[in-house]
Amino acid sequence: MILIKNAKVSWAGSWRRVNILINDEGKIVKLFRSSKANRYLISKVDKIYNAEENLALPGIVDMHVHFREPGYEYKEDFTSGSKAALAGGVTVVADMPNNKPRINSLDAFINKLNAIKNKSYVDFMLYVEISKDVTKLSEFLKHKDFLPAGVKVYMYEREEEQAFLNDVLPKEFVYVIHAEDSELISEDFDCNSYSSFESSRPRTAELRAIKKALEVARKGIRVHITHVSTLEGLLEIDKAKREGLKVTSDVTLHHLFFTKKHGEVLKSILKCFPPLREELDRRALISALKKDLIDCIITDHAPHAPFEKDKDLCRAPAGIASIEYFYPLLFKLFKIANFDDFNILVKAVTEKPARILSIPDRGKIRTGFYADIVIFDKKIRWRALREDAFSKAKLMPWENMRFRGKVVSVFLRGKLVYENESFIERNGMFWNRYL
Ligand code: DOR
Ligand code: ZN
Repeated sequence: MILIKNAKVSWAGSWRRVNILINDEGKIVKLFRSSKANRYLISKVDKIYNAEENLALPGIVDMHVHFREPGYEYKEDFTSGSKAALAGGVTVVADMPNNKPRINSLDAFINKLNAIKNKSYVDFMLYVEISKDVTKLSEFLKHKDFLPAGVKVYMYEREEEQAFLNDVLPKEFVYVIHAEDSELISEDFDCNSYSSFESSRPRTAELRAIKKALEVARKGIRVHITHVSTLEGLLEIDKAKREGLKVTSDVTLHHLFFTKKHGEVLKSILKCFPPLREELDRRALISALKKDLIDCIITDHAPHAPFEKDKDLCRAPAGIASIEYFYPLLFKLFKIANFDDFNILVKAVTEKPARILSIPDRGKIRTGFYADIVIFDKKIRWRALREDAFSKAKLMPWENMRFRGKVVSVFLRGKLVYENESFIERNGMFWNRYL
């Protein structure tokens, strides 16, 4: 057994100093205030970790990452991506299927799993992508050891949109929707203007795609709208929730920190789909988090090689890599956007995504849950430097940003796997969804 002592944990609305006892299966068996009262238990402990009154946060469940394996290992691979994840306080990722080959069948899924299974420092789930043959999704239901985290639908791909809107879909999965309507997107824009790029993928494209996806939700399909970027999109989802639809949504870190004005300065480094919008949208996304109208925060960690991002807005690929700064960015957001309690943001990256991904025993520091625990020191001041990055995507908008608060240690299922920028053990495993 391991004991983490002197940790501050959010408990019933306040941050309390507790000791966390973890068994050999990596689960939390007891949380207790005074160590004296539990001499008997402490006598059974093999190892004590002193958290020195730092925060103990649940490991982040990032439900939207692109670790690029197989096919684009030069941009990122499961080892580099998962190292960056640990540094940011992430213990579980759900990885997207836009690989080479695309992961849109059980065979492709199993091949991907075989390729990456010994390479990850964090636990991982994998998405499958919808294709024009939706019967391929039913194959997964016959092999329940290989369940996808969910089904990804790129609405801007015509065939995917058609299959999603018109075919009979298995109801067992959550459908994660990239909501941009292909008919409203154009490839024609000024390669040096972020505003022009943003207009080529207009806010109306998001709204129309969300409306279509909500129609599918009305048929009883579980829909999750990922990376909402506009106020109208938010309102549409909120309306559907009030109607009683079981729809959920998330927002990226970059849409919470940046707008198209920043895009005019950083250009391709901030090129992403959907694009960055107006300050009004950014504020609406933040206040939606405060009011619990958005369920989760994701990175959409989408790394590209520096030589690719070092091009103009027409030629550079879309995508922003953020995972290694996840908890520090969240803590910064808590301070600059005046949230009442850091735990509102913590829940949006832990217990809420765990619920959407059907992982009942992760995402909280509570008895019976896996001990995915991040020790976070609020006092450390540091700066994000390119040469320190574990991700292969070196050109990131967070470069040179100053932070207060850093991930010191990470426990994955009760094992210390990361401490002071060193990786101690690589034992990330495939995590099956519960059906
Ligand atoms: O910006 C993006 N990058 N949006 C996407 O939908 C895909 C992603 C990627 O894979 O690079
Ligand atoms: Zn993505």
